[in-house]
Amino acid sequence: MAAMTRIVDILRQQPVGSVVEVNGWLRTRRDSGSLAFLELNDGSCLANLQVLAEEGLANYETEVKKLSTGCSLRVRGTLVASPAKGQAVEVRAEAVEVIGWADPETYPLQKKRHSFEFLRAIAHLRPRTNALGAVARVRSALCFAIHRFFHEQGFIQVQTPVITTSDCEGAGEMFTVTTLEPGQMQGADPFAADFFGRRAGLTVSGQLQAEIFALSHGRVYTFGPTFRAENSNTSRHLAEFWMLEPEMAFCDLGGDMAMAETMIKALVAAALTECAEDLALFDQHVAKGLIDRLTQVRDRPFVHLTYTEAVTELAHARRDFAFPVRWGVDLQAEHERYLCEDVAQAPVIVTNYPEAIKPFYMRLDDDGRTVAAMDILVAGIGELVGGSQREERYEVLAARMAAAGLDMEQYGWYLDLRRFGSVPHAGFGLGFERLVQFVTGMQNIRDVIPFPRTPGSAPC
Ligand code: 4AD
Ligand code: MG
Repeated sequence: MAAMTRIVDILRQQPVGSVVEVNGWLRTRRDSGSLAFLELNDGSCLANLQVLAEEGLANYETEVKKLSTGCSLRVRGTLVASPAKGQAVEVRAEAVEVIGWADPETYPLQKKRHSFEFLRAIAHLRPRTNALGAVARVRSALCFAIHRFFHEQGFIQVQTPVITTSDCEGAGEMFTVTTLEPGQMQGADPFAADFFGRRAGLTVSGQLQAEIFALSHGRVYTFGPTFRAENSNTSRHLAEFWMLEPEMAFCDLGGDMAMAETMIKALVAAALTECAEDLALFDQHVAKGLIDRLTQVRDRPFVHLTYTEAVTELAHARRDFAFPVRWGVDLQAEHERYLCEDVAQAPVIVTNYPEAIKPFYMRLDDDGRTVAAMDILVAGIGELVGGSQREERYEVLAARMAAAGLDMEQYGWYLDLRRFGSVPHAGFGLGFERLVQFVTGMQNIRDVIPFPRTPGSAPC
């Protein structure tokens, strides 16, 4: 019996003359005289495998000539050198078995190119297209590259909880998790009678819990689903996204920035070598010049600016912004993109933001006005990474928590980490979908996650 083989392995490794058996979905059928050319794709790579089905096949008239886009097939045959341009080999079929038909009248994916908007409405079929198929492979390769990178750097992976009672970012964007019926939400403290005995929600960040393990294991990371009830219908925001959060003990802001830059370069390098075929597709059809831009990100140092320098740069910009800038306001995507695309022409690390616009856990700078924060901004997207050195001094942290209106009892465990063996420590969060956008050049974040959740939309 022939070994079942993935198309990627057939195209890259199998010698001419070998007998192969392959499963996949039909992209197109073209007839030429007594022959049918079948383009088969199994998702293992962008390229299709061309199958030659000749009229001698038992089911040639009854089935092969009725095949249409979307049918699933099992093909057995011999690998031969291909005379056609653009492919080295093809399969001369000895058997073509139809596993599942796809009615050509109703199958929504046709040979022509569909818009990403159209494809969003068919989340169950869009992975079968070239672009969304490539996104899925790049996403998976980046995910694996993240684990490999942190493993090689000596980090321990920690699984932080999805259900939590601490709102790390304090931005009021936590989805509530409750078993109470609407009628039971009464009184001053309705959640006292709830499942957890107090208000719980879906995590907005695993950072606070990651800090616990950084203060026992030194270098840790957490990587998982993150939720924000943020009513921003933009091409960069999701209500459910994946965040990668490394946390390092005995580390300051400088070490944090260096680790983030090394990591981004390693991930971009992994994509360039491991996803070359898919990135070439994006370069050609989605974002011209993508591979050159990624190569520069991999090879050139990032540019450093303090927040104050960035604001000065923006104030002198020879263009208008929808949101005017002055010291003290948070930067908007338009400002962030200007800094990378026009000023630095490279990723920019902005540091030392005003204390008032950043969360309570960031370390207060000596000037008392700014914190040891850093955001990494990239072209086309804006903020890719947000991180900081954490406030390790008990008194300063307690004062900042009180100022932020946090319940000291509820966050007592977080303060304890500063009472018992506190050390300088730092970390950052990388929005995984924004990374996939950056690496693929895809415009809309809804197209780089298999099942996007956005305000008003969670279809399946
Ligand atoms: O800057 P953020 O809010 O930082 C934190 O949550 C920290 N606790 C991270 C840390 O220091 N451990 O979020 C980190 C990143 C952002 O830079 C952005 O890339 C991404 O998460 N992000 C989102 N991505 C998609 N949709 C959203 N709604 C996002 N909100 C943040
Ligand atoms: Mg941020």
